Amino acid sequence: MCGIVGYVGDRQAAEFLLEGLSKLEYRGYDSAGIAVYNGENIRVEKCVGRLAALREKIKDDVPQGTIGIGHTRWATHGRPSDVNAHPHTDCSGDFVVVHNGIIENYLALKEALIEKGHVFKSETDTEVVAHLLEEVYNGDFEESVREVLRRIEGSYSLVFMCRQHPDRLICTKQDNPLVIGLGDGENFIASDIPAIINRTRRTYILNDGEMAVVKKDAIEITNRKGELVTKKVFEVNWNAEAAEKGGFEHFMLKEIHEQPKAVRDTMSQRIAKDGKRIVMSELKWNADFLNNFNKVYIVACGTAYHAGLVGKFYIEKLARIPVEVDVASEFRYRDPIVDENTLLIVVSQSGETSDTLAALKESKRRGAQTLALTNVVGSSIAREADQVLYTWAGPEIAVASTKAYTTQLILFFMLALYMAEIKGTLPDDEIAHFVSMLQQVPAQISETLSDVEPIKTFAKQYGFNEDVFYIGRSLDYDVALEGALKLKEISYIHAEAYAAGELKHGTLALIVEGVPVIALATQKSVYEKTLSNIKEVKARDAVVIGIAAAGDEELEKYVDHVIHVPETDELLIPILTVVPLQLLAYYAAITRGCDVDKPRNLAKSVTVE
Ligand code: G6P
Repeated sequence: MCGIVGYVGDRQAAEFLLEGLSKLEYRGYDSAGIAVYNGENIRVEKCVGRLAALREKIKDDVPQGTIGIGHTRWATHGRPSDVNAHPHTDCSGDFVVVHNGIIENYLALKEALIEKGHVFKSETDTEVVAHLLEEVYNGDFEESVREVLRRIEGSYSLVFMCRQHPDRLICTKQDNPLVIGLGDGENFIASDIPAIINRTRRTYILNDGEMAVVKKDAIEITNRKGELVTKKVFEVNWNAEAAEKGGFEHFMLKEIHEQPKAVRDTMSQRIAKDGKRIVMSELKWNADFLNNFNKVYIVACGTAYHAGLVGKFYIEKLARIPVEVDVASEFRYRDPIVDENTLLIVVSQSGETSDTLAALKESKRRGAQTLALTNVVGSSIAREADQVLYTWAGPEIAVASTKAYTTQLILFFMLALYMAEIKGTLPDDEIAHFVSMLQQVPAQISETLSDVEPIKTFAKQYGFNEDVFYIGRSLDYDVALEGALKLKEISYIHAEAYAAGELKHGTLALIVEGVPVIALATQKSVYEKTLSNIKEVKARDAVVIGIAAAGDEELEKYVDHVIHVPETDELLIPILTVVPLQLLAYYAAITRGCDVDKPRNLAKSVTVE
């Protein structure tokens, strides 16, 4: 995710800004920039690429001044480029801003500002904020920022500079982190603690809706209503390594906990204002376009392939189009029947997986229309595909994919609803019902994450077993595959997912006393059948951990333990049931002392065949 830094004091700002940004490099970024007030103007220097490129660009003429802001960008709106890099400015260059997050109503604001004569330089949502500040500025910097905040919607941490008030930075946040580092005659701002811990360990952690005016020797924090807020100093006692992980022990755990936000961000801007429809402004499909396809292929690798299996279910169920799913390394070599009547959807967190890219290229060569679902703007797959839908999960660092999977599921669900509306396969009220259920998912993931103790206990209890089986039917089976993959990847326990109805065709021979079986039983249409399969394994004395929706009082009669997830529509429940499975894998790996973030033999991005 993007990184933010800010400095006000007596020292050269650029020195801290570059140092602070370098401490955030581990998070991944595609461009960087700084802005420093030089006594006359705010000078902005930014460029695409690594921080080293920015350092090189300014090495003979480093911006001089003692107040400034800086940013490393992870592209969401607009590809990685010099102009899209932050900081962003208004028309005059007097108002400068850096931003993490997404301004959801930026298009409407941008159109209105263009009408008023504002000239935009970039494709970003952020630039709107600088122009809006210019538009509403009335000589009072604080009040004008407040007015901007009243008009923008979305998630953000923002830092503002104004040439007319060169003694202060103003910062605020909503659903994105922001911290103020307290120095002696100087103060720091950062999106994340690693940027500042070399300079100070005394911090104020901002809450949503709070706004801080930061000067070199004074900090004033107010709430949304403008009332003064008295904050406690938070002393950071993490070491640099722990700080990078936001206080979590591993990136994987951090990323598991980031899922509510990642899912919310991925939904943002894709739900109509009335909350009843899905909007995909990136696609602009119509019935003619969709009716042209007699087949949809979903092609991907690893976890993204598992997301594709759920995607197939959604598209077939909601939009009634036949879908085939394949792993990219198989698809590309089996002379697939692909032509101009095929829609090929590739799914890739990194956008760089070699087999997925090759499958995409091959399908394009055969005339297919192509759509990529990816997390990395400007990645090879994003560039190659005809159309792209981005998951806005932010960078995923742990090798085992977690938040990418849940955001891919959300995106597939929205895509299927969007297709259903165009094709007329679902009545409007059902679409509206699904959209309202969708909006509850982030809070439901948070609820699922709020009590991990039972999962920790199971992981300790069963973490040393040689084999673990995952069973389920329908969508539960798709999630079982992902749960088993997580366990294999990071704990090195042999794990197998089986369609519950297939057990008796072979795998049941492996079920003996004490073998752990994770049984997902959330799909109503096959619930009774799943229960019968659970009884089959219980009859062989397996230890069964059931995963059920809240309110299910039946399952506990047949299993040894039950983990409940919040109740939602059974189509959406995979986004919840996968969470305890991720945690189970995580804690099993911890129990076994494995290197969770960097499992043996595996790579985050597989760019070789
Ligand atoms: C590797 C990673 C997996 C990932 C797969 C596909 O195997 O370890 O976590 O699911 O590649 O990666 P992609 O970036 O294409 O989603």
